[in-house]
Amino acid sequence: MNDQPETTAKLPVIPVLALKSVRRHYVQGKSIIDVLRGIDLSIVAGETVALVGPSGAGKSTLLHVTGLLEAPDEGEVFLNGAPSSDMDDDTRTKMRREYLGFVYQNHNLQPEFSALENVMIPQMIAGKKKSAAAEYAEYLLEKMGLKDRMKHRPAQLSGGEAQRVAIARALANKPHMLLADEPTGNLDPMTSEAVFGVLVDIVRETGLSALIATHNPELADCMDRMITLRDGKLEELDTLGMSGRIAFKQRFIQV
Ligand SMILES: Nc1ncnc2c1ncn2[C@@H]1O[C@H](COP(=O)(O)OP(=O)(O)O)[C@@H](O)[C@H]1O
Ligand SMILES: [Mg+2]
Repeated sequence: MNDQPETTAKLPVIPVLALKSVRRHYVQGKSIIDVLRGIDLSIVAGETVALVGPSGAGKSTLLHVTGLLEAPDEGEVFLNGAPSSDMDDDTRTKMRREYLGFVYQNHNLQPEFSALENVMIPQMIAGKKKSAAAEYAEYLLEKMGLKDRMKHRPAQLSGGEAQRVAIARALANKPHMLLADEPTGNLDPMTSEAVFGVLVDIVRETGLSALIATHNPELADCMDRMITLRDGKLEELDTLGMSGRIAFKQRFIQV
């Protein structure tokens, strides 16, 4: 008889996301802007990371490369251990649509569709039936406190409401990882707090991994780790403190 408790402690942890020696530059006229100069980053399941750094530091570029919206010039982006450069276009699109959820600074909702439809569309593109997509979209919007706003179009929503719809849309295909680019950057402080409140709650509840670029110190403080982008490189700012970080350590104590 083996009465050893079951444990997963010895299983290797494959990061949900890993970046290895990622470089990205832009050419502008005769000058070269070296934005990412060798980025290494690893995020495991359930881990949440705040990405901070001054405007122009390359946070959006890093998120675009991570979200497979732009290819790095050098280096590799791994999703669940798989190198993205090996993926064909269909696989890359599928990963972008189903493995990752992206929240932009501006909600980027489709203006001609209702909140409900905006959350249904990605599910239907991924192959879900209309009724099931509607049911899950309703569930997500209700969680975001938008039960009474489902039929509204983006123009009929406040900035905070539209951003909550955008978060629901990013979660519609149950991604493994949420990427958000200054999701509260365009909101006033009160609205910002409400939006990041639901964002943090849902990330914690679902055990999602997240990489969130933000200037909001309170939002950053709710994450497990904080990393800063400076001169094209990442620096780890802080790995201790905060309940979120403790929760992370309890889950991944062996790492
Ligand atoms: N498509 C592009 N073409 C040329 N330069 C770009 C492009 N995208 C970003 N940049 C430049 O790269 C730098 C980093 O930009 P960005 O990633 O948007 O920074 P952040 O999100 O931290 O403000 C900036 O100097 C910006 O002007
Ligand atoms: Mg940016």
